[in-house]
Amino acid sequence: MKQKSILKSIFLVSIAFTTFAVAFASEPQKSPTGPEGIVPAEFPALPYGYDALEPYIDARTMEIHYDKHHRAYYTNFVNAIKGTAIEKSTVSDIFSGISKQSDAVRNNGGGYYNHLIFWQNLGKPGTSPSKELSDAINSTFGSFEKFRETFSNAAKTRFGSGWAWLYVTSEKKLAVGSTPNQDNPLMDISPVKGTPVLALDVWEHAYYLKYQNKRADYVEAFWNVVNWDEVSRRYKEAVK
Ligand SMILES: [Fe+2]
Repeated sequence: MKQKSILKSIFLVSIAFTTFAVAFASEPQKSPTGPEGIVPAEFPALPYGYDALEPYIDARTMEIHYDKHHRAYYTNFVNAIKGTAIEKSTVSDIFSGISKQSDAVRNNGGGYYNHLIFWQNLGKPGTSPSKELSDAINSTFGSFEKFRETFSNAAKTRFGSGWAWLYVTSEKKLAVGSTPNQDNPLMDISPVKGTPVLALDVWEHAYYLKYQNKRADYVEAFWNVVNWDEVSRRYKEAVK
């Protein structure tokens, strides 16, 4: 009797394990990881040294930008969501309902996420867009030069502080736009909506030490240090 009971238990456990294994294997990846995922417990490291973008973006600016500005956004964002219903939500979920959140969540959450994308978009001079991204740029803007001009103009003409974006719309099309302050295309309040592929920070804290009021010179310098491998990867991910 006892042996029969043990055999029955083994049978039930193996059925349960098989069911779990099948369910797990067929479960699609739903939650995003990386910048769009859950906010990490530690402030994410800069993926290169402060001097990696010299002479186009100087080391002192990078140090203050990353270690003071970005860190403050991260810390304030963590504190703003701590103990609330969105503490364990993904960043993309928080942004898709940002109109219901406080200014602290909107501004610091945007500051945390936008800078993560920005750092990852930079640091690999000499790279170029993948064929897939290059084809999409040519068919959307006519040529790479036209795209660069459109993006640069979005950055140069953003009034006050904000960001320029290359993003993928819900129709899987490329588009260029800009947002004020720390807003971004993942936010439900943004007039430009989609998945960010390339970001450019045009807050004065991003360039003032080296370029003072000459934002246009900073925007032109930016093109020398873009990590097109990462931008192409983000594009591929966004059009899946
Ligand atoms: Fe910034």
